[in-house]
Amino acid sequence: MSVSPQGRRALPAWQRLEQLRQPVWASRHLSDVWAEEGEARATRLSLRQNGLLLDYSKQRLDHDVLTDLFQLARECSLEKAIQHLLSGSQVNQSEGRPALHSALRLPGTSRLLIDGEDVVPAVHASLARVRSIVERIHARQWRGVTGLPITDVVSIGVGGSDLGPFLVTNALGEFAPAAAQQLKLHFVSSIDGTQIADLLDTLRPATTLFVVASKSFTTIDTLSNAETALTWMLARIPDRERVLRHHVIGVSASPAKMTEYGIPESNQIAFWDWVGGRFSLWSAIGLPIALKLGMKGFEQLLAGAHAMDRHFGETPLEQNLPVLMGLLMVWNSTFLGINAQAILPYDARLKLFPAYLTQLEMESNGKSVDRHGQPLDYDTCPVLWGDVGSNAQHAFYQLLHQGTQAVACDFIAPIARYQREDEAGSALQTQHLLSLSNCFAQARVLMLGDACLSESDQAAASVSQEPGHKHYRGNQPSTTLLLDALTPYSLGQLIALYEHKVYVASVIWNINPFDQWGVELGKKIAGTTYAAMSKDGSLDSFDPSTRMLLRAVHK
Ligand code: F6P
Repeated sequence: MSVSPQGRRALPAWQRLEQLRQPVWASRHLSDVWAEEGEARATRLSLRQNGLLLDYSKQRLDHDVLTDLFQLARECSLEKAIQHLLSGSQVNQSEGRPALHSALRLPGTSRLLIDGEDVVPAVHASLARVRSIVERIHARQWRGVTGLPITDVVSIGVGGSDLGPFLVTNALGEFAPAAAQQLKLHFVSSIDGTQIADLLDTLRPATTLFVVASKSFTTIDTLSNAETALTWMLARIPDRERVLRHHVIGVSASPAKMTEYGIPESNQIAFWDWVGGRFSLWSAIGLPIALKLGMKGFEQLLAGAHAMDRHFGETPLEQNLPVLMGLLMVWNSTFLGINAQAILPYDARLKLFPAYLTQLEMESNGKSVDRHGQPLDYDTCPVLWGDVGSNAQHAFYQLLHQGTQAVACDFIAPIARYQREDEAGSALQTQHLLSLSNCFAQARVLMLGDACLSESDQAAASVSQEPGHKHYRGNQPSTTLLLDALTPYSLGQLIALYEHKVYVASVIWNINPFDQWGVELGKKIAGTTYAAMSKDGSLDSFDPSTRMLLRAVHK
């Protein structure tokens, strides 16, 4: 069915979903839903797939809503849109290019023709460059200018050139091979200089290697951190050419800009315009990942993501994990008006996953115009945030349980955790079970509220007429995603799952998830503000509020 640019609301399934929302789901409590549907709901609304278990039975929906969500997906031609994405069509219309992150995890034996050219050999050639650099560093053959092997690698990047590698290397440290364990990996991203200033104090120039990662190689945050690093190096080793050859690697989609910067070709790894920044951890941007996990670990991560790509491309909508998760987000945000989404991993290894997802989801789908630039008249991406669930219980869960906002939650946890035989093993296993119990308990209380007390406790509470501050209203929807275990492979699946979920929601919302025009104006205005700030120049063109702040700095 062809849909006019503004036509989502006119679709029959959209209209039925509007009706189901009002009056049914505006007031229906999950405890009543469970009372009506019973045990079967848990089986019906959960899905097992290749080591992942998705429980969406705690979402505020039923069979009718689901049927119409899948129908809506069909009316929005989702199946075709998935094939367009995976086959390299120009799904990023405003920048006139495909979004081919899935090509980065294709096995070497595959073929994918874009404009008549197979991109797979180039992808694997780039991986081979990553491999050769990683092997040299691990074998202590990459030497600094004084001939010493590298002990510290500093990854300088921001946004998509930082968050993915930072997440994965943090999460999977226990999978580091022996050769990687002797190498210290650091991440620097913030423009204010704090991170690099603190770090430089701990480093030895002769044994430090900087990886400057920037798709555009124009991002001021990254370039200013790189400049500080280089200045520090040159003060100790005053030979720019040799420092750049021995101590700097560039990763970018712009080889020309890396060359202009002075990075020798042998130290450049290029990737392509058709890799979106926030989808780039699978490319050479993943160099720190390969340094941490070894090439084998990096390849397992890619294999997990590729398995998710295949699942996404080959599975009917009703059993398709990213499709389900995308539709759930649309139902919650657009139809139920739930504009907040918490990401709650019950495993501190995934501490950085919420931060990673804030970029992936909000930079992709935080849009208010459709693919053709026309304003939308429905809500799109919710505000997303999160933290390790058990820590967040002691911080912001109060609002989840008793605040005035509806919040959708994603609980994420591995089923198996420790396999240690040492004296701490059984105590740690107890901690893991405590963590999982908290995860399940929170999802349950958020769903049922007071109704999860036993009948006698409920009776006692009502007899004593508990005041409002001891009341839990429940009805907060959540999804629980269990991984058999957290490994490079399953983390690859998990990240690709969210990437595709973002795409699914964008197709239903009719927006382009692959551009980010919203961040451009701020960069431009920061440039003119910096000029006014540093030159003591005229402030006439500024608004009074900003002028007042600038004057405070001038003083
Ligand atoms: O400003 C936003 C953004 O362009 C992101 O999309 C991107 O991941 C980040 O900046 C870093 O960009 P680059 O990799 O080009 O330095």
